[in-house]
Amino acid sequence: MSKSDKLGVAILAAGLGKRIGKKVAKPLVPLMGMKLVDYPLSAAINFSKENDLESSFGIVVGHQKEDVQKYLENRDTIKMSFPVQKEQLGTADALKSYYVGCDWAKDTDYTMVLCADTPLLSKNELTTLWKTLKNNNWDAIAASFNVENPYGYGRMIRSEKGFSIVEEKDANEDQRKITEVNSGLYIAKTSYILEQLSGIDSNNEAGEFYLTDIFKPNLNVGIECFPDAQSFLGVNNPIQLEEALFVLKKKINTFHQKRGVHILDSQNTYIEASVEIGKGTTIYPGSYLHGNTQIGSECMIEPGAIIKDSKVADETSIRAYSYLESALVAKKCAIGPYARLRPGTDIGEETKIGNFVEIKKAKLGSKVGVSHLSYVGDAEIGENVNIGCGFITCNYDGAEKHLTKIGKNSFIGSDTQMIAPINIGESAFVASGSTINQDVPDQGFAISRGRQVTKEKLAAKFLRGKWAIKKD
Ligand code: UD1
Ligand code: MG
Repeated sequence: MSKSDKLGVAILAAGLGKRIGKKVAKPLVPLMGMKLVDYPLSAAINFSKENDLESSFGIVVGHQKEDVQKYLENRDTIKMSFPVQKEQLGTADALKSYYVGCDWAKDTDYTMVLCADTPLLSKNELTTLWKTLKNNNWDAIAASFNVENPYGYGRMIRSEKGFSIVEEKDANEDQRKITEVNSGLYIAKTSYILEQLSGIDSNNEAGEFYLTDIFKPNLNVGIECFPDAQSFLGVNNPIQLEEALFVLKKKINTFHQKRGVHILDSQNTYIEASVEIGKGTTIYPGSYLHGNTQIGSECMIEPGAIIKDSKVADETSIRAYSYLESALVAKKCAIGPYARLRPGTDIGEETKIGNFVEIKKAKLGSKVGVSHLSYVGDAEIGENVNIGCGFITCNYDGAEKHLTKIGKNSFIGSDTQMIAPINIGESAFVASGSTINQDVPDQGFAISRGRQVTKEKLAAKFLRGKWAIKKD
């Protein structure tokens, strides 16, 4: 294989995708942290790298074309064009639009055709197809596979003189019984495909221009029949979308399990491909790990935890139903249950964040405790500070956010509010029930609450009904 082979990759993505039932264009339907179109695109990119091919990409767009283009266009590592197919007249017409819309496409040596809705394809199938094409010196190759129920697919009609592909609608009874079907993935010499395209008409049951008509008997073309139908799963509806998700999820989870991650229930654990996890970490069911997330080793991720774009260091527990977003959590911390760490949270080692605590844009030192029902926003909290139950940083004045600082080794009683901007020194003590609006120096004690008045026997005046105190 020579390095000088120029490959054009046409990804057909102009179809309406009605059956998927989403408002977004079908290529943009989300699947495990990416969009449908990302999968064939990255398979083709990886294939090109592996085979040293100089590749350019043409995404044929039609329905909601602006959205698809906007999503893909800023990937400057690859050469990509967005040819438009004005009317969806069939797959051959879509490929014609590719040659018209990509000014580089006719100058390529080879053209690979992929559909935007086959997310399980990998570079391996593409490489196999490429090698078979080159080894046989064919002009074009189609990928096929066998299925129990071939309904809806084009059938591979093999004969002594070669083969052709007949669509469901056009097939006769005998042809419909054929279980070898067309995957919709092809590679061809560009010169061959251009010549064939010019002769294709729409004289068929669907009245469409079929790309499958580039294959005819007596031509120098061939088939690679793949043993694994799964890789070619086409996603046309929510059921097939779930099937694809199931396969991708299992693949990712198995990858981690092989590296010593303990996933208790793989079917109910959702880890996106971009996530890294250390050895010995245990993940309970119902957890979602998204995006640019790194989990250390020997961590515990309990049920229902949602972790997005966050770093969790070794031996930390994220307890049930906690929600982390762009947060940093150091080693040996305990977070939750039911904690919410919002963007900008930075938590030091061995710190404890308990139930119903919300933290936003705040740096907490090591060995801090915020154990119950609190809001810590726009704050810097030194090491070894203890914050009681029901603490609130009053950080927002309606126009701006202000900072709360608490020095190390301080003790903040329960039910206190800090009216920011405010500065509490080191080793300070703030009494429970205080609303603090003035700075407290190092080692200072602050209390701000009404004095208590107690009157003996006066309760009888206020207690009525079933609470009334019986006179004896
Ligand atoms: C096609 C094949 C069929 C194969 C099946 C595999 C043809 C004629 N038939 O049928 O043999 O078994 O794929 O899944 O090619 N598209 C456009 N513009 C159009 C029409 C389609 O861009 O005018 C795009 C769609 O967005 C989709 C792809 O082409 O990504 C395939 O189109 P689809 O309508 O799904 O073709 P099938 O009927 O499934
Ligand atoms: Mg289809």
